[in-house]
Amino acid sequence: MLEKINEIKHQIEQDIVNIKNSNDLENFRVKYLSRKGIISELYDLIKSIPQDDRPSVGKAINELKIYCQQVFDNKKQEIENLSNIITEQIDLTLPGRRRWVGSLHPLTKTLKEIKFIFQKMGFDIADGPEIEEDYYNFEALNFPPEHPARDMQDTFFISDKILLRTHTSPVQIRVMERTTPPVRVIIPGRVYRNEAISARSYCLFHQVEGLYVDEGVTFSELKGTLVAFAKQFFGSNLKYRFRPSFFPFTEPSAEMDITCFLCNGKGCRVCKQTGWLEILGCGMVDPNVYKYVNYDAEKYTGYAFGMGIERITMLRYGIDDIRLLFDNDIRFLKQF
Ligand code: DAH
Repeated sequence: MLEKINEIKHQIEQDIVNIKNSNDLENFRVKYLSRKGIISELYDLIKSIPQDDRPSVGKAINELKIYCQQVFDNKKQEIENLSNIITEQIDLTLPGRRRWVGSLHPLTKTLKEIKFIFQKMGFDIADGPEIEEDYYNFEALNFPPEHPARDMQDTFFISDKILLRTHTSPVQIRVMERTTPPVRVIIPGRVYRNEAISARSYCLFHQVEGLYVDEGVTFSELKGTLVAFAKQFFGSNLKYRFRPSFFPFTEPSAEMDITCFLCNGKGCRVCKQTGWLEILGCGMVDPNVYKYVNYDAEKYTGYAFGMGIERITMLRYGIDDIRLLFDNDIRFLKQF
């Protein structure tokens, strides 16, 4: 009897692999698992064997039945899955769907590149708080109280003495307070100005500040560094000029222009017909600033510069509305 059970098991193993569709499956079920099926017949045969053998044979039949049910269920599942695929009409030869890979925000790209270029030139990266004291944002940068230069900045005041920083320059002071020269840092960060939101201005934007203080730092080093930066960032055949300017914390001060790359200096809408684009402000650190950080103005000289990341990004990619950089519209962002 046990031999017979074994034979049936082999038979099941062979039959199951030949099942190709639900018809075959049904035939298999009728053959083995139905009330008139082979396994039921086996149970009927128990009566005809000696009493002592019955428990072991019964057990073997039970096991066979469980086994048979199991392979049947598995096969059934397999066939159902297959038929789902067919009814959904999935074409298995089609290539898989591409996963959508995100892209870096254009501001992040600009910032990364600026950092990379200055780091190669030996600048460290520093940062400071966005909620700032009046002292760092203005006073220690040589804007005395009531100085008219404060009017240049539309400030969000939190209280009398606390404000949202209007530029990254206060971090110059914070860095100098805690470092003895040489100091060579760039300071990327967010700044805030209480301006009406338009295509050209936003209440929040980003700047990168630069500061280098040591013995014998000269204005020509400042120019050399900025020109090296601009050529790497905008292209090596770029033309540039420095114009005299004014900032309370630098003396002398300048602004750097590059030739408009849209019109190549001929004059267009973007450069307002001048052929030039202003990209940053800079100058030699005013000796008055050193008093606030206890640097010996006789011993040390230094330069500083500051540029707007939005502006540079917009110039570079030909973006004509600053708000696009803050809307986070995926249709815009995925172009970068
Ligand atoms: N802080 C200035 C601004 O927000 C930019 C600037 C100009 C920074 C000259 C500097 C500098 O470090 O030397 O307009």
